[in-house]
Amino acid sequence: MDKISYDVILQIQKRLNIVDVISEYLPLERKGKNYFAICPFHDDHNPSMSISPEKQIYTCFVCGASGNVFNFVMNYEKISFGQAVKKLAEKVGIKLNIADLKNATKRDDKLKKYYDIYDLVNKYYQNNLKSVYGKKATEYLHQRQISDEIIKEFDIGLSLNDNEVSKFLTSKGCDVNDLVELGISGFNGNFTYDVFHNRIMFPLYDLDGQVVGFSGRIYNGEKENKYLNSKESVVFKKGSLLYNYHRAINYARESKQIIVVEGFMDVIRLSCVGIKNVVATMGTAITKEHADLIRRLSKNVVLCFDGDAAGKKATTNAINVLEDIGIKPKIIRLEENLDPDEYVIKKKKEAFLTHLNNAMSVFDFKIDAEKERIDFNNYEDISSYVKSMAQELNEIKDPIVYELSVKKLSKETGVDASTINSFVANVPKKIGKIMDKPKQTSKSKYEKAQEYLIYYMLRNVDVIIMYQNNVAYLSNKLLSKIALEILDFYDQKHYINVTDFTIFLEDKTDLINEVLRIDSYDLPAKMTVNQIKDYIKTIDDGILKHEKEKIKRQISEETNVAKKIILLEKLAGLKKKECK
Ligand code: CTP
Ligand code: MN
Repeated sequence: MDKISYDVILQIQKRLNIVDVISEYLPLERKGKNYFAICPFHDDHNPSMSISPEKQIYTCFVCGASGNVFNFVMNYEKISFGQAVKKLAEKVGIKLNIADLKNATKRDDKLKKYYDIYDLVNKYYQNNLKSVYGKKATEYLHQRQISDEIIKEFDIGLSLNDNEVSKFLTSKGCDVNDLVELGISGFNGNFTYDVFHNRIMFPLYDLDGQVVGFSGRIYNGEKENKYLNSKESVVFKKGSLLYNYHRAINYARESKQIIVVEGFMDVIRLSCVGIKNVVATMGTAITKEHADLIRRLSKNVVLCFDGDAAGKKATTNAINVLEDIGIKPKIIRLEENLDPDEYVIKKKKEAFLTHLNNAMSVFDFKIDAEKERIDFNNYEDISSYVKSMAQELNEIKDPIVYELSVKKLSKETGVDASTINSFVANVPKKIGKIMDKPKQTSKSKYEKAQEYLIYYMLRNVDVIIMYQNNVAYLSNKLLSKIALEILDFYDQKHYINVTDFTIFLEDKTDLINEVLRIDSYDLPAKMTVNQIKDYIKTIDDGILKHEKEKIKRQISEETNVAKKIILLEKLAGLKKKECK
């Protein structure tokens, strides 16, 4: 089989959940955020393999076997990497033929036919908006401060009267049955009619950026439903799509954050002001599938639903669904019942950014949300409020955040902090004790500096660039290889993220295991340029030290005086270098 491109493999991976795949081979047990299994790669008796749904990675803390979903299938079934990719591609319905190697999103022929129809309709609607018939709709969009550029960016279009689309598509040879199946047309026994009339059309894309449906908005003040969506079909399921997913994916990775809003216009408005790491749930209650998709974009999730009561309720629901899969979101509540679109227009971008930078914790959100429901003159109410918030406190791991949260609740209710503490099962211990770092005692400082540098290269492109500019090689051969692979990955893809990097490494199992071992260190997320410079300095020192030792050995073994002198001069040169 030809080599399958990284992008295609990534697409396949995006459609899979490693937990589901591994659970087909091994029984899994859930503990907190992760799942555990008896490791199939060594003689294991207690579950020592952990599977992280968040990272889509498995690791055995005993034998060190680790990797992504493809590595698992490859190693478990003892097949090649390419065969594993092929197998999983089939599982998610992606066909890998020569054409698909370039464009792996078209599934089987029937789907391809549907996709082609949607592409055609999409262009047709967009042309309508640009034509003379689109004048009024364009004015409406302009009046909502949607520029022509944004219209283009979001492929906004327009449906017209007189069953134009149905006529157009049948004239192009499309089968009416297909059009009905896709919710583009209806058929009343005699003739085919358009489902969408006179609406501004927002194409809805699947995860790969393929149009799979539409939503149409009225713009003439008609009395009909504000938005009308394509009916669900084989390719369109509203509960498994997030509006703007395929565009937001890169922005979310760059900014390491995903903002979740309710509506199309919220996404579009934020994009207008340069905030593009945004997806919308399209007004529906957030589903488990939505949550899985959100987690794939980033584990730093900010919920910014409408400022009204319905938005608040939707927020509570979203928190529950996200917490179920191990995500603690941050929350923004906008004033005056505004939705993000209205808010940015009325209060401007800076005010929104202030909200974003000060997004609330779940605890703070709940403390406010619950508060509204209680009567502070009623002691029973206060008691149940404190107990319910104590449940929340249970989940706070950081002792400082914990202390501040207890203080807040105490101030809010007049109940003593110590009383509140007595209702919390897991009061976090003081800092220093809670972080049980894996022991790395046997390693030299030179070894550690190399590993830590790699750790931060796996997270931060600036560190990669610092490496590129300042480090020639690493004395540890395996780490040096990894560093080169990271440079290569960054060169081609212009971003970095551990999981995707392991996909890039394909079947280089030794490198993958080492990458994931280093990645599992519990180092602080924040680091400074000086810290990285220190690592680099230590690495240089290590190389120098190593060279000095080598020359000293040579000197002691050398019998030829002239040669000995040359070596001594070399050593003096190195010592001078060291003093600088
Ligand atoms: N929605 C939908 N079908 C409806 C109503 C709403 O699919 N009949 C979805 C749309 O994605 C919409 C979102 O729910 O963007 C939020 O609905 P709403 O708050 O009513 O609309 P806005 O986003 O405020 O839309 P606009 O600003 O255009 O009025
Ligand atoms: Mn709105």
